[in-house]
Amino acid sequence: MATKKLSRIDLQKMKEERRTAVWITAYDYWTARFAQEAGMDMILVGDSLGMCIYGYEGTVPVTMDQCIYHSEAVRRGAAATFIIGDMPFLSYQVSVPEAVGNAGRFFKEAGVDAVKLEGGKRVCEQIQAIADGGMLVMGHIGLTPQSSGQLGGFKAQGRTAETARELIEDAQAIQDAGAFALLVEAVPPEVCGIIRDRLRIPVYSIGAGVQADGQLMICSDVLGIFQAFTPKFVKKYEALAQKTIDAFAAYAEESRSGAFPAEEHTYKMVEGEYEKLTSLLKQ
Ligand code: KIV
Repeated sequence: MATKKLSRIDLQKMKEERRTAVWITAYDYWTARFAQEAGMDMILVGDSLGMCIYGYEGTVPVTMDQCIYHSEAVRRGAAATFIIGDMPFLSYQVSVPEAVGNAGRFFKEAGVDAVKLEGGKRVCEQIQAIADGGMLVMGHIGLTPQSSGQLGGFKAQGRTAETARELIEDAQAIQDAGAFALLVEAVPPEVCGIIRDRLRIPVYSIGAGVQADGQLMICSDVLGIFQAFTPKFVKKYEALAQKTIDAFAAYAEESRSGAFPAEEHTYKMVEGEYEKLTSLLKQ
């Protein structure tokens, strides 16, 4: 359980000591607070906020300004937790200088500890430039939601020897470019295990099994809030969607029946003032 904000060195040491780092996404102040209180090692302000907060069908419409705005709230909620800002679609693909500038915004405006971007060899120039700018940057390979169109949908990756070998090469290139860590999404566990064993830097899994240096999950999945679809790798630890609907319905029902608000939810007039008021109103 995290008691102070971890550093890159702590995360590296956790890998070397085979201690699992646990992280979760958060997009707002309260979730970040709860994540910190639960002892998360890291928080990702994922561009999954497009689906979890804004109701988009994917992450492509998410903007830099939205990511900064939510990262600021998360930082306020979790001052003592390592926070990663997720670079949204077209914030780093267009050019290397734009990638460095946008990564810098996360640090300057939202106070994150690191940024993450999706892709393998094709984003290594950006990773190197961001790292050369003195910023911590994490890679993300496997199922990369921003390019899910190219991948043919939200599908598992690296299931054949040839595609797994490409992922392993991407992972190596990302480390060589200067990333401090790598996230592997929706890939068979044995492929993630090979990547973890080959790389010096920490390799984290979301939907890539247990052979990793840590696990990431999306908060809305863990809480059972997100309803549009449930990936195979998701375990719901709560059913907050139904609990929320039940609470709203109970409030509506009690309001309509007059059971709410009860006496204990109302303010009392100062003794004798009601009588004074009624006589005042008669004048
Ligand atoms: O945006 C996000 O939450 C992510 C995860 C899907 C890994 O990038």
